[in-house]
Amino acid sequence: MLGSFEDERAAFQAANPGFDSDALAELRLKEYGRLEQLGQTYLDYTGGGLYAVSQITRHGQLLAGGVFGNPHSHNPTSLASTALVEQAREAVLRHLNADPAEYDVVFTQNASGALKLVGEAYPFSSDSCYLVSYDNHNSVNGIREFARRAGATVSYVPVRPSDLRLDRALVERELERPACGTQLFAYPAQSNFSGVKHPLEWVEAAKRRGFDVLLDCAAFAPTNRLDLSSVKPDYVPLSFYKMFGYPTGIGALVARHEALAKLVRPWFAGGTITLASVQSGKYALAPGHAGFEDGTVDYLGLPAVTMGLEHIARIGIDTINARVTALAGWLLRWMREARHSDGAPLVRVFGPRDVEARGATIAFYLLDPDGGIFDVDRVERRAGEHGISLRTGCFCNPGDGEVAHRITAAEMEACFDQGERSSREPVTLKECQRLIEDASGKVPNTIRISLGIASDFGDVWRFARFAESYLDRYTADDR
Ligand SMILES: Cc1ncc(COP(=O)(O)O)c(C=O)c1O
Repeated sequence: MLGSFEDERAAFQAANPGFDSDALAELRLKEYGRLEQLGQTYLDYTGGGLYAVSQITRHGQLLAGGVFGNPHSHNPTSLASTALVEQAREAVLRHLNADPAEYDVVFTQNASGALKLVGEAYPFSSDSCYLVSYDNHNSVNGIREFARRAGATVSYVPVRPSDLRLDRALVERELERPACGTQLFAYPAQSNFSGVKHPLEWVEAAKRRGFDVLLDCAAFAPTNRLDLSSVKPDYVPLSFYKMFGYPTGIGALVARHEALAKLVRPWFAGGTITLASVQSGKYALAPGHAGFEDGTVDYLGLPAVTMGLEHIARIGIDTINARVTALAGWLLRWMREARHSDGAPLVRVFGPRDVEARGATIAFYLLDPDGGIFDVDRVERRAGEHGISLRTGCFCNPGDGEVAHRITAAEMEACFDQGERSSREPVTLKECQRLIEDASGKVPNTIRISLGIASDFGDVWRFARFAESYLDRYTADDR
């Protein structure tokens, strides 16, 4: 059982002497005071980050004090916008320690937009291979449909049921297979399901064997330093709202120049060409990022990306990393130790049970003394009544979900068959979950909490206290 807030916080502080609670308290008060004012415990940073007040203020001041026109021209207001867009591009490269001679930044709507740019334009053919880890967001899984349409071979590397990590030997074996014409390997630097940090060394290992590498950093970048001078993936998708909350609707594909040049766009749009002709039926695609930014970029939103990155720089990405790691360590330990009166565990974590090579995203169930699983949706609703925002579901990561809950391929097939049989409507996730649960007793649904830029000890303590309200309760009584 937890002690009082003061006792637990003192013990946490003693165990983490480098954790600067005063600086964090000041940051919370100044930039994220609305959390306290509104009684909110925010634990869904992998869903979306939180913005600081100063980001909004600075952005508002910039817009209120300037006149900005569409950037594709040479008048003063257009040039002012162009300057802001280019500042944002430089800020992204600076944040990632990427050499502009090596990397380019294509602004997109979000990480999914960046992934689609790669998927639709990667030169897949019947001679190509697309190698993907089970642990991936659906926007990475979705690239397989472009690959399949081109006749490419799609292979998945499974994660281990025990800790949801990729097996090094299996990855090596896949990378060692005889080379395909073009080959793309896609995996996340950090799992949005389990928080697992997959080894970044695989970028170099795959490249040595002739793969292009897509390293999904959407869940990694908000709390980890990504240094593109030492790890050099070809394609890196990002969503900025995950990193600093605001603006939503802007992401980036950070790509090596050569890798960008390898992509064959399936169309052209305003802003992406140097010249297009109706009569000749020809067009010339603009080089670099310009050839990938369809239409008008979010030129009023992009300065907020620069400001968001400056906000992260002021706090320090390593400081953010150290804080969330310490807090996740406390949570994971509490999860390991929380027991019902008869000694049965209260929590089952999916993925690593400690902070070794993992981030501060934790997927789990709450269990009753008999091992019964508390209804995940009801847990979310009850947490909400306590002002706690957590997330439930499969988090758009079906590979991890299927392994975590030991769902078989046949059970998944049955879901799709059921959809076809019962109605013209496609089968939904909820229907599939119900079908599997009714047929097998497995519960393919998960609770996830994730920490970020403003997380403090109070957040994790309040969650643990809420979860302890399930001690010695039974699922049968959970109505
Ligand atoms: C690892 C990972 N990749 C990609 C995405 C897609 O991001 P977005 O929804 O912003 O396009 C997410 C979103 O949660 C993610 O966690």
